[in-house]
Amino acid sequence: MMRRRPGRKRLLFYCAAFSVLYSICTHFPGLLWAQMATEDRLLYHGWWPRHSVPSRDEYIGPAECAGCHLSKAAAQKTTPMARTAVLAADSDILPGHSTLTFEVARIKYEIATADGKSVYKVTDGRRSISAPLTWAFGDGHIGQSFVYEHDGNYYESRVSYFGPLGTLDFTPGRKLTEPRDLEQAMARPVDGAELVRCFACHTTASTIGDRLERSRIIPGITCEACHGPGLKHATAQKAARLEGQVLEGEQEKNLIFDPGKLSPVDAVDFCGSCHGTWWDVKLAPPAGVSNVRAQPYRLEKSRCWGKKGDPRLACAACHDPHQELVRDSASYDKNCLSCHVAAASVKPTVDHPGPACKVSTKNCASCHMPKYELAEFHYKFADHYIRVVRPNDPYPD
Ligand code: HEC
Ligand code: HEC
Ligand code: HEC
Ligand code: HEC
Ligand code: HEC
Ligand code: HEC
Ligand code: HEC
Repeated sequence: MMRRRPGRKRLLFYCAAFSVLYSICTHFPGLLWAQMATEDRLLYHGWWPRHSVPSRDEYIGPAECAGCHLSKAAAQKTTPMARTAVLAADSDILPGHSTLTFEVARIKYEIATADGKSVYKVTDGRRSISAPLTWAFGDGHIGQSFVYEHDGNYYESRVSYFGPLGTLDFTPGRKLTEPRDLEQAMARPVDGAELVRCFACHTTASTIGDRLERSRIIPGITCEACHGPGLKHATAQKAARLEGQVLEGEQEKNLIFDPGKLSPVDAVDFCGSCHGTWWDVKLAPPAGVSNVRAQPYRLEKSRCWGKKGDPRLACAACHDPHQELVRDSASYDKNCLSCHVAAASVKPTVDHPGPACKVSTKNCASCHMPKYELAEFHYKFADHYIRVVRPNDPYPD
């Protein structure tokens, strides 16, 4: 018997079905249900942090959101995320330190601040070069690095300020004790895709039409860095308020991105678009203990996470992204105990699938999420790979 060839109508049907599926998947990557590398997420059309937007005019800035979301806006404004990149003139660090210095071999580094202007100067005793600083990256409680423009190009300062030290040291990963020349001793050029990424992870509304649009960058990670451009949502809500209406269902749908609706895997990849997803680390691994800064990667290695994750372990279950980080480790016990039974006499259940600890009933994170010092950051980071830690165990990569 001959196989019938699909008729023209049927072919058209397959094509139509495929294009509908393709369109659904590219608009709602969440339906794909898998951990992904951030560069892959950014190929989809729907909103995702670091996404490029066709027009800067779609962004309205956090002051507009504050008009209606007052308490969230007031709290978010003071977080390190919101302050993570500011114009050097607005740095919290520089005005309090009129001269910062650092010296290595014959090279002297100095950042001098007066009247809201900071000048970065490097000298080897014979020659010196200097440049006014443009941007301060990092709010400074861990570290602050400086980025400046010179002849239309961007440079990252070779030295950074470290909160715990109260002074300068080499920028992490950029230590250089025998520079080729004074220019190399002073800074590292940052350009192309790297420059776009720097600003996309530290500021809002910087990537327009796939390019760095420097004229109207909103400093720091503000509302629209996570929720996407807010013009349509704000316009619709303002109109509704004037009419005394409440928007519901279809009227409000998709006007603003709500990460609260993501699956656990997607929710962790969402924060991971800046903090480092499992695949981001696998594809470009910071090997060894330095990957402790990629919390999403570490978390998803935990046995607690299982295969598909659980909303009780998504980043936002433990950290409200609109609030300061909670520093008292015992206050995370409620998160562990939302899954783990509290006493060895109680058997795990479907609701509480985690067994009890034989050793302690409180301050879980202090033992199971130990902190590791990264020498070049002068800071201890909590390991999000939740596990039983034996004394003298090496760092599990
Ligand atoms: C004119 C008032 C108004 C402005 C301006 C406004 N919102 Fe809203 N927004 C609302 C109202 C009302 C709701 C629905 C009730 C609620 O969740 O508070 C809402 C809901 C939301 C939600 C939840 C959406 C959902 O689907 O559950 C997010 C996220 C949000 N707004 C973010 C923002 C951001 C970001 C900005 C600034 C870019 C902003 N809003 C500006 C009034 C406003
Ligand atoms: C657009 C990039 C971006 C996204 C998305 C993002 N973060 Fe961050 N986050 C940062 C940067 C940059 C810092 C560093 C702040 C600093 O110290 O300068 C940071 C710092 C933090 C801190 C540490 C604050 C402290 O006090 O040390 C926490 C906690 C945090 N983020 C949680 C989250 C969570 C939870 C999510 C997802 C809901 C998230 N972040 C999404 C960029 C981002
Ligand atoms: C993929 C996103 C991403 C890129 C690209 C990126 N950063 Fe960050 N940066 C972060 C996150 C997330 C943190 C917070 C890490 C933490 O504390 O856990 C951070 C923290 C920092 C800090 C504070 C120190 C610390 O560990 O908290 C400085 C300073 C900094 N970044 C500077 C830069 C500069 C300068 C560039 C570009 C040359 C850059 N970053 C590129 C995401 C990024
Ligand atoms: C670092 C990412 C991030 C930033 C920055 C951020 N949000 Fe959110 N927002 C989230 C996440 C994740 C959720 C869902 C989980 C939750 O409810 O905390 C959310 C939920 C919301 C909601 C709906 C849920 C609720 O509690 O009503 C509103 C409204 C909202 N954000 C407004 C804002 C406003 C306004 C700002 C700026 C002041 C802002 N967000 C900044 C990540 C962020
Ligand atoms: C089960 C709770 C829990 C979950 C889930 C969780 N964290 Fe944390 N996180 C902590 C604890 C505990 C600390 C350490 C707080 C302290 O003592 O300073 C911390 C600290 C941090 C810090 C500060 C820098 C550091 O490493 O110490 C960042 C940034 C952070 N978390 C981001 C994230 C992100 C992104 C996610 C999602 C992948 C996440 N966290 C999920 C409990 C959690
Ligand atoms: C979403 C639910 C959930 C949350 C939240 C959770 N766990 Fe777990 N955890 C589990 C489950 C389920 C297991 C057992 C997994 C298995 O046996 O495969 C487990 C296993 C463990 C183990 C044994 C791991 C190993 O490698 O043997 C430790 C230790 C642990 N959890 C501690 C914690 C701590 C501490 C917290 C809070 C910081 C926490 N868990 C939060 C579900 C959770
Ligand atoms: C003082 C440090 C310490 C504290 C605090 C602590 N644990 Fe443990 N936990 C351990 C050690 C050590 C083990 C390994 C015990 C063994 O195998 O002999 C362990 C084992 C576990 C296990 C594995 C149990 C099993 O049967 O496989 C889980 C789950 C766990 N802890 C959860 C928690 C939770 C949840 C809390 C907070 C309510 C907590 N732990 C507090 C040190 C601690």
